[in-house]
Amino acid sequence: MAYSNRSLPEEELSVNPAMLTGCRSLGYYGFMEELTPGRIREGLATKFVGQKIVYYESIGSTNEVAKGLVDKGAPEGTLVIAEEQTAGKGRLGRRWIAPAGTGLLFSLLLYPNLTLEQVPRLTMLASLVAAEAIESVTGLAVRFKWPNDILIRGGKAGGVLTEMGVTGERLDYVVMGIGLNVNWNPSQVPELAGKATSLSEELGREVSRLELLQRLLIYMEGGYLRLQEGYLPHKVFTSRLADVGEKVEVVLPRGKEEGFVEGVDADGALLLRREDGSTVGVTMGEVA
Ligand code: BTN
Repeated sequence: MAYSNRSLPEEELSVNPAMLTGCRSLGYYGFMEELTPGRIREGLATKFVGQKIVYYESIGSTNEVAKGLVDKGAPEGTLVIAEEQTAGKGRLGRRWIAPAGTGLLFSLLLYPNLTLEQVPRLTMLASLVAAEAIESVTGLAVRFKWPNDILIRGGKAGGVLTEMGVTGERLDYVVMGIGLNVNWNPSQVPELAGKATSLSEELGREVSRLELLQRLLIYMEGGYLRLQEGYLPHKVFTSRLADVGEKVEVVLPRGKEEGFVEGVDADGALLLRREDGSTVGVTMGEVA
């Protein structure tokens, strides 16, 4: 079936009392800035990233929705965005928690010309453009924890979840999910206390989610086009890596690896120098 702009939902949010209640109970009293498709597109100087928008007040997971849109012929750059996720996914089967209306919760659908091994380039790119957008809107310094954590002063302010569709050895699509804690205090949630932070917590004032999102989408389009032409983001990614030169333990799917962080290679593997002087590239797992 041919894809039509009208075949996907674009609910407009006006005022959602449930959302306001949810935010108040978490200590958020600020203005509710709407992230409706119309407002997102207004002044969005991109050619394709974020030009098709699928918007939900509440949905399970924007990544799941984006994957489901592939068979409907959704175009490259389709943005799936929600004010709230009831089943938000993090890496390694974890949950992504964020109260309605307080953060950025979105997924981008891409059809990149990359091999399966090169897909982590996109995850690095997503972290980089998120960092650049945060820095340009707030002035806060952003660092990374391999492979996908976006840190501010050591606290996790966001993360990237990249999922892909594959036929045999061929990459069919990539869904890049980004979650950013913008205007709420994650330490009110026991499982996030001491680990997570947000832009408003670090800045002492609220931040425009709309401005942040639009910058991120613009940077993403530029970075994605460069990536398709062969740009490798790993050196810039490494320059923001929090643990370079430090000894870390990486928890692997099976076992552990210890070593001093040297950086990240072109396809996103974490390079560790072991005690015996050898270097190993770790492709899966996370820094403990
Ligand atoms: C992580 O740090 O583990 C990755 C978190 C990614 C969360 C985002 S929120 C939007 C998108 N939809 C999801 O279900 N997850 C990602």
